Amino acid sequence: MSARIIDGKAIAAELRGKVTMEVHRLRRDRGIVPGLAVVLVGANPASEVYVGSKKKMTVDSGMRSFDYRLADTAGESELLALIQRLNGDPDVNGILVQLPLPAHINSQNVIAAIDPSKDVDGFHPMNAGRLATGLPALVPCTPFGCVILAKTVHASLEGLNAVVIGRSNIVGKPLAQLLSAENATVTIAHSRTRDLPAVCRGADLLFAAIGRAEMVNGDYIKQGATVIDVGINRVPGEGGKSRIVGDVMFADASAIAGAISPVPGGVGPMTIACLLVNTLRAASARAGLPLPAI
Ligand code: GUN
Repeated sequence: MSARIIDGKAIAAELRGKVTMEVHRLRRDRGIVPGLAVVLVGANPASEVYVGSKKKMTVDSGMRSFDYRLADTAGESELLALIQRLNGDPDVNGILVQLPLPAHINSQNVIAAIDPSKDVDGFHPMNAGRLATGLPALVPCTPFGCVILAKTVHASLEGLNAVVIGRSNIVGKPLAQLLSAENATVTIAHSRTRDLPAVCRGADLLFAAIGRAEMVNGDYIKQGATVIDVGINRVPGEGGKSRIVGDVMFADASAIAGAISPVPGGVGPMTIACLLVNTLRAASARAGLPLPAI
């Protein structure tokens, strides 16, 4: 039997379509155009690609995109000054500082400087705390997208055993919070977990966010489970070219799983779509409007 493929590309396109409609409505009824500022420090090739896609999708959805590039020699104080300026700019509803930052800049200081109401990455301790305590929050985009994908397979996640491999602030921890809020029974596993394959074989929902190419093989997967692959790893391919693979060995896993998200074309497109949702939400909240129902 072969698993159903969760088409993140199509699901993300549908979500962006809904955002585009809501952006249009906001402009028509209120004269508001949501704006997203993206800040890139230095010239990391992978970050350049992400930032380019974010810009295109922001503009395609009818929002304004503001691009800021700082040299990789820029100091932390220069970046903090830019964030202060964006915090005070009424045309900017969302601020995203692309990570990773150069080593001489303290990412936590930078994240903490962003106005929590413009923190469309959901990384500010205020938003992380709000999510953890069940208050409305801007939530990190990748975990947000993962939950949407899981819910295309299961109408409700209530009572399902969910295992999240990885405990980063960007994915693992907030994903566990979101799943718990959906009433799943959540285990956070990681590189020090004892007998990781056995723990994962207990999962109805398995989320792989370790950052190790194709580490999750068939031994980790329960028959019929839903597998969401968060990994984006560049590995050597044919003819000296590189190719992108996930954290899951796709061919192995899809013979056992009930549903699986591919890489590319799974979680990746969802992350950007959810960033647009967050920017729309931030703009609506700023205008004192109810959050759009998407
Ligand atoms: N780098 C990799 N993923 C992300 C993300 O979701 N947000 C930011 N700001 N940087 C990233």
